[in-house]
Amino acid sequence: MVTIRTAKPQDLMNMQHCNLLCLPENYQMKYYFYHGLSWPQLSFVAEDSKKRIVGYVLAKMEEESEEVPHGHITSLAVQRSHRRLGIAQKLMDQASRAMIESFNTKYVSLHVRKSNRAALNLYTNTLKFKINEIEPKYYADGEDAYAMRRDLVEFSKLHDIAPAFAPSFFDCKGKGSGDDHHHHHNHD
Ligand SMILES: CC(C)(COP(=O)(O)OP(=O)(O)OC[C@H]1O[C@@H](n2cnc3c(N)ncnc32)[C@H](O)[C@@H]1OP(=O)(O)O)[C@@H](O)C(=O)NCCC(=O)NCCS
Repeated sequence: MVTIRTAKPQDLMNMQHCNLLCLPENYQMKYYFYHGLSWPQLSFVAEDSKKRIVGYVLAKMEEESEEVPHGHITSLAVQRSHRRLGIAQKLMDQASRAMIESFNTKYVSLHVRKSNRAALNLYTNTLKFKINEIEPKYYADGEDAYAMRRDLVEFSKLHDIAPAFAPSFFDCKGKGSGDDHHHHHNHD
């Protein structure tokens, strides 16, 4: 049996270990701590019955850009022995839910290699991410990335998730989805 729960500081080393087994994009330990200590609600682990970490999602809020604050998935992986069990989907849904409930987040973004068929299938078909743009040579080896986004307003409605602050969450602004023409100006 595998359980999904929020990542504790004690988990961060095991998450890094899982990352090293699964992905060529690796991070220093301090980057895991930066996530875990800044946004303790947003990162999750999958733990087997023997308390081993078999998957993780490392997530954060993106607050520096000119755009509205939004969620970002820094890294996601599930160990080979535990794939195709729905663990990645559960990790991603938990992180998305926490972004809505804690930070009123309207969308979450990520990067994925153009050649990563498994992840692309997961993001596109299962989780309903859309390709936002292509970032040429995003990865160290020169491969292009798809920058993808998931609409969390849609997700919250589908799963009846209450946002941190409903009035601004459900208004039409700030997602860049062409809703701006609904705004009226009183002084012409
Ligand atoms: C991508 C990854 C996280 C998926 O984890 P997972 O727990 O096996 O995924 P899930 O079981 O939740 O998959 C959900 C759906 O995604 C799609 N999917 C997942 N793996 C797939 C694969 N190998 N081929 C095709 N579709 C796949 C399927 O639609 C799947 O649903 P189904 O099993 O009912 O057909 C995992 O393969 C992994 O860790 N890969 C290496 C690291 C990596 O690429 N991380 C993402 C970097 S952006």
